[in-house]
Amino acid sequence: MYKEIDLNKIKLELEPPQEEPNRQYYFIAKCKEKVKEWENHLGYQPKCCVITFGCQMNARDSEKIRGILNKIGFEDTELEEEAEFILYNTCTVRENANLKVYGRLGKCKHRKEQGKKMCIALCGCMMQEPNVVEKLKSSYSFVDIIFGTHNIFKLAELFYIYLEENNFLGKKGQKEQKHKMIIDIWKDTNLIVEELPEKRKYSFKSSVNIMFGCNNFCSYCIVPYVRGRERSRKPEDIIREIEAQVANNVKEVMLLGQNVNSYGKNLEKPISFAELLQKIEQIEGLERIRFMTSHPKDLSDELIQVMAKSKKICRHLHLPVQSGSSRLLELMNRHYNKEQYLQLVDKIKKAMPGIALTTDIIVGFPGETEEDFEETMDVVRQAEYANAFTFLYSKRTGTKAAAMENQVPQEIVKDRFDRLLKLVQEKAEKFAQKDVGSVKEVLVEEVNRHDCSLLTGRLSNNILVHFPGKKEMVGQFVNVVLQECKGFYYYGHKID
Ligand code: SAH
Ligand code: SF4
Ligand code: F3S
Repeated sequence: MYKEIDLNKIKLELEPPQEEPNRQYYFIAKCKEKVKEWENHLGYQPKCCVITFGCQMNARDSEKIRGILNKIGFEDTELEEEAEFILYNTCTVRENANLKVYGRLGKCKHRKEQGKKMCIALCGCMMQEPNVVEKLKSSYSFVDIIFGTHNIFKLAELFYIYLEENNFLGKKGQKEQKHKMIIDIWKDTNLIVEELPEKRKYSFKSSVNIMFGCNNFCSYCIVPYVRGRERSRKPEDIIREIEAQVANNVKEVMLLGQNVNSYGKNLEKPISFAELLQKIEQIEGLERIRFMTSHPKDLSDELIQVMAKSKKICRHLHLPVQSGSSRLLELMNRHYNKEQYLQLVDKIKKAMPGIALTTDIIVGFPGETEEDFEETMDVVRQAEYANAFTFLYSKRTGTKAAAMENQVPQEIVKDRFDRLLKLVQEKAEKFAQKDVGSVKEVLVEEVNRHDCSLLTGRLSNNILVHFPGKKEMVGQFVNVVLQECKGFYYYGHKID
């Protein structure tokens, strides 16, 4: 939650305070002075460009990063080439997420070499891997600031240290210094710093972290290594944050955690995720509640009941299955088998007919046979997903699966992937098709990027609808007839 602090009242001649978030507000104020000086040199307000890779956790972290950078005095831009401060918030869940970053960095180097005065910062999950930081130090030494997933709140402090250590704005009488890279990576932490600035893309919908980290150690996954142990925010902090957002026009909130179903277990006064949802439901003015991700092993009957009764919790559940083969699920350390998963799906559908279920599936986990893969196809047929994110297995150093034998040859994985994708698309279309002709409520999100006479809105079940309308409707709920299904989305028209 953002605490409105008058930066002019901070006494900058004193030592920085020890406690957070006051310490960071002190550094924000210090940086603001410096950025003002930079602005005077440039003759215009310096710009920042924050590029986000990966999941919704990273997207949320980037909102906090943008909040700090704006407060310091940078103006946002989406164009990397016009930014004075570029930050890449990285992901490492699969190898290709990793490679994209190195490609982008090459271009930044070129701009710096051409003489542009700028700061390049890297943060996020990739930075938590020691070999990545070693590579950056040796081959990408033009990078200025590196920090990880645990100390995002420290951005202003690190930027200030960077400016000072590099004599960035060149005080008179001082010689140009050798470039110093500022690196601050924490292995893990219990610290949760509340009340720092944020800058959201949408004024009417928000994402709120309810917990950080993951304890599950699924054998293929690097997230627990780069995001640390599971820790939940206190319910009162979460509620306060959402209430403040709602007072500022937020209508829809997305609650974020790697496994929201284990929320609250490590709190001093433990509470369940279902109990938290009931508290959030009571916030007046809040109209829609979403959450992700739900690990099937921890999804309780209590949660299903709370969802079924709720008027605000959206009719969408993301329930990653990863594989349909019980043999592989055990090797993946998922703690459920195919039958248990399908029983759960059944229970959810009975309690909430028509609910949109979505999932994540990995193809080509070590040792996956054609029979294992057929089990996955069978789950997709039976669960009738509204959508699924399908991934090629990617070997992540340090995970248990990386040491497993029988890595599946690439051509076989690719062939299975294509077959799965085709089935997923058929099922998604079948799911969406059944609502054609009905009237549903959408929250209008934006003017369509390709055709400005159209608006784009989201149904409770998370499917998008494009329909003619005026931009003044953005941020409002409207009723729309779903006219035509285009696979993953609809065309419709508004009715009064
Ligand atoms: N916490 C969430 C997922 C976070 S990662 C959950 O448990 O569902 C998002 C997705 O990336 C995972 O669900 C998984 O399908 C995929 N993924 C994770 N590690 C992967 C790997 N090594 N290779 C391919 N896909 C992977
Ligand atoms: Fe990764 Fe499993 Fe944790 Fe999800 S639950 S983040 S897949 S280890
Ligand atoms: Fe990627 Fe980190 Fe999310 S590894 S998927 S950005 S938690």
